[in-house]
Amino acid sequence: MNRSILIFGGNGFLGSHLAEKAIKNGMDVTVVDDLSTMEKINVPEKVHLIKEKIEDFLSNEKYDIVVHLAARPSPEDYIDHPIDTISSNSFGTRNALEIARKNSSVFMYTSSSEVYGDAQIIPTPESYYGYVNPNGIRSCYDEGKRFSEALIMAYHRQYKMDTRIQRPFNVYGPRIREDGQYGRVIPRFIKWALNDEDIIIFGNGKQTRSFLYIEDWLEATWNFITKEGLEGSIINIGASQEITVENLARKVIELTGSKSKIIHKDPRPDDPFRRSADTSMARKLIGFNPKVGLEDGLLKTIKWFEGGN
Ligand SMILES: NC(=O)c1ccc[n+]([C@@H]2O[C@H](COP(=O)([O-])OP(=O)(O)OC[C@H]3O[C@@H](n4cnc5c(N)ncnc54)[C@H](O)[C@@H]3O)[C@@H](O)[C@H]2O)c1
Repeated sequence: MNRSILIFGGNGFLGSHLAEKAIKNGMDVTVVDDLSTMEKINVPEKVHLIKEKIEDFLSNEKYDIVVHLAARPSPEDYIDHPIDTISSNSFGTRNALEIARKNSSVFMYTSSSEVYGDAQIIPTPESYYGYVNPNGIRSCYDEGKRFSEALIMAYHRQYKMDTRIQRPFNVYGPRIREDGQYGRVIPRFIKWALNDEDIIIFGNGKQTRSFLYIEDWLEATWNFITKEGLEGSIINIGASQEITVENLARKVIELTGSKSKIIHKDPRPDDPFRRSADTSMARKLIGFNPKVGLEDGLLKTIKWFEGGN
């Protein structure tokens, strides 16, 4: 069993769950996070938390696993901070790779389903090259992820590093951040519904997304970083079942018993029309088999939001 793990962006939604699991499994956990998207400390006390940018972090410590989750993944946030966004997933990726290379660590990167852009093949397999606007308002995020994937594969090929790339689709659950009006629909819809506020949908609401509950993401990610023989692999981690954004809003209203009304605004530029993960590769490589259905996951997430978080 690997004993030490360095998690960039480990105080965020996905990272804090991963840090917790690593602690429970007896690992030494270091988190490097600039706390830019979440100021609240989410990781257990046993975690060695360093407030620093991934681009600037230097270390002589030995890490068995290095994980790069650091990003500004919420569309409204990355559109407001495009340079920070592309920096953490270009200069930051390079810095994290160098740390992993010097330590001969396993390196795992969270890319994104956004590398597919407005995908023309649904469900989308890893072999799909993407349909991405290279300089539109979302490009600071999408192209940062695509560049990082290229850089990681260059390190894998040139230095024979054990690199692993996952492309999460929409993951949700407790600790997911809710902010702004656009992107990350589940936490926003829940928050609005709990306050009986209008639920805003950009466009006609017929765009689809597919949602994976955090427990299923965590199990898949744990297998992905700890299993032998996965060097150089790239997998989707997400759900295949699609739901329209309109139906999601209705479901959240129903499950919260809310009086919220749905209102529509103009569509946002480059908003992908459909999202659904082809997860056959993840099934084959790590036995991926998500267990939590959307309704159960939503109820657990609503309960967490009701707890005042
Ligand atoms: N949650 C999802 O559905 C989803 C989907 C696709 C991809 N991802 C990817 O997974 C990763 C984690 O996402 P999340 O949902 O936990 O988001 P999050 O915002 O909750 O966590 C990201 C963390 O990175 C930190 N961070 C941002 N810029 C940094 C920098 N320059 N240096 C150090 N730390 C920095 C933030 O402070 C935050 O704690 C991201 O790379 C994201 O792009 C997430």
